[in-house]
Amino acid sequence: MDKKSFEEKSSEFSKNLAVGFVKKLLVFKNLDSTNLTAKDLARDGAEEGTVILAQKQRKGRGRFDRIWQSPKGGVYVSLILRPHINPEKVSLLPIGAALVVAKTIESYGLHPTIKWPNDVRVNGKKIAGILLESEIKGDTLNYVIVGIGVNVNIDSRLLSADIRLRSTSLKSEIGTTVEFFDFLRRFFREFDAFYHRFKKEQYDEIIEEWKSYSDTLGKVIRIQTSLASIQGTAFDVDQSGFLLLRTEKEGIKKILSGDCLYFDELDHT
Ligand code: BTN
Repeated sequence: MDKKSFEEKSSEFSKNLAVGFVKKLLVFKNLDSTNLTAKDLARDGAEEGTVILAQKQRKGRGRFDRIWQSPKGGVYVSLILRPHINPEKVSLLPIGAALVVAKTIESYGLHPTIKWPNDVRVNGKKIAGILLESEIKGDTLNYVIVGIGVNVNIDSRLLSADIRLRSTSLKSEIGTTVEFFDFLRRFFREFDAFYHRFKKEQYDEIIEEWKSYSDTLGKVIRIQTSLASIQGTAFDVDQSGFLLLRTEKEGIKKILSGDCLYFDELDHT
């Protein structure tokens, strides 16, 4: 049995990180939200490669201002990026982050899929979510925060009933507890590889690989935004990661954002 405390393990982990994306790792037992802390630090000038990690979050945030339930057992991490890219390419970062998480989960012998744009799922249930926040000054990108929440060892009883039904964890899928820092080591290895490709502008390769994990393409889906709902067959993503939908009434529509609902999983009651 490993008797080391979380603090000892996290300081060992930080010391042993091989050179790569992570320049500074800040580990917390409990935070309101790693994305909020990362944004504060980025505004104060924190360098690219600053990473905020928490064991729990009090006010974890999801897409569309939803709450991301964040009990102990999950991995909650936010990465500060300052890529020198055309701001139009930012939409590829959540796509890439989903790919990184999917590949990390796959390394445990599972078969994850990605629901557009960036929900990572196992056996049709959500295992991880990604929240990207960025700031553009003038026409340049100041910072990007990539926030990732992964249900690693979450005990589903700690989640509300509706979330419990639609989510799963790495622990319940593989049947054994996953060591927090082992997961992070694998995750950062994948992230390094992805970010290297991203900086070399290998955008098409990233999209192609994302497609190989997609469980959205080929499906009849509904895209829901606060203003509208549109239905059609998802048939491709373009070079920016936007979804192409073939609709009956409006022809081909390009979807920039929204909630993606699968028709075969909708609750019609
Ligand atoms: C989603 O709605 O699917 C995105 C969830 C993103 C949650 C992560 S957990 C780490 C980071 N900090 C936050 O407050 N949110 C993101």
